[in-house]
Amino acid sequence: ILESPSAARLLAWYDRHHRDLPWRVSPAMAARGVKPDPYRIWLSEVMLQQTTVPAVKSYFAKFLERWPTVNDLAAAATDDVMAAWAGLGYYARARNLKKCAEAVAAEHGGRFPDTEEGLRALPGIGDYTSAAVAAIAFNRQAAVMDGNVERVISRLYAISTPLPGAKPEMKQKVALLTPADRPGDFAQAMMDLGATICTPKRPVCSLCPFNGACQALAGHDPEHFPVKAAK
Ligand code: ADE
Repeated sequence: ILESPSAARLLAWYDRHHRDLPWRVSPAMAARGVKPDPYRIWLSEVMLQQTTVPAVKSYFAKFLERWPTVNDLAAAATDDVMAAWAGLGYYARARNLKKCAEAVAAEHGGRFPDTEEGLRALPGIGDYTSAAVAAIAFNRQAAVMDGNVERVISRLYAISTPLPGAKPEMKQKVALLTPADRPGDFAQAMMDLGATICTPKRPVCSLCPFNGACQALAGHDPEHFPVKAAK
């Protein structure tokens, strides 16, 4: 008999097994009163969009050393930002990064808007980044969706609708599961779970906090999900 999925189980797993990432405020740090820096969260999430965690780390350190605040980045020469971005790829992201920093500096006094809607209005910020920054930097109850989260949620509920059509259904499931008290940790936990346990091939279900609730595991075929539309 399946349990119902619970955010509390995922958060308990995250408290013990979260990855230590340079931009992340761990649950232990948060308990000591450390608050996330929205600039660092935004910068890391933009860098992570088409690039892996190991590749992002050195770029993140370089950007922070050179431009410690969003106002510093806003004042930088575009050519310097583009040169520092070289190697990360998708150069439109770097151009948008600079434009977004300029908007935060000029229109918001150097402080990022603290809601999903406010963030979404900034240049270069789409559904993913606005939800991620709202949740992680400002603890807003936003449903953060990326490829890892889609895989976790599609397995948990054995969603048989193929991607990309299943996205609204997946987002609704994530929204219903996102807790009011720790939405930022919940989002980061879903991404860590997808990256380390609920992997595309050979997921390590024995270590998963959702293993008593996962419909794909109950059906003996987690790797079947997410279902993709035929090409
Ligand atoms: N991938 C992209 N953003 C992430 C985050 N905040 N935590 C873990 N993995 C991520």
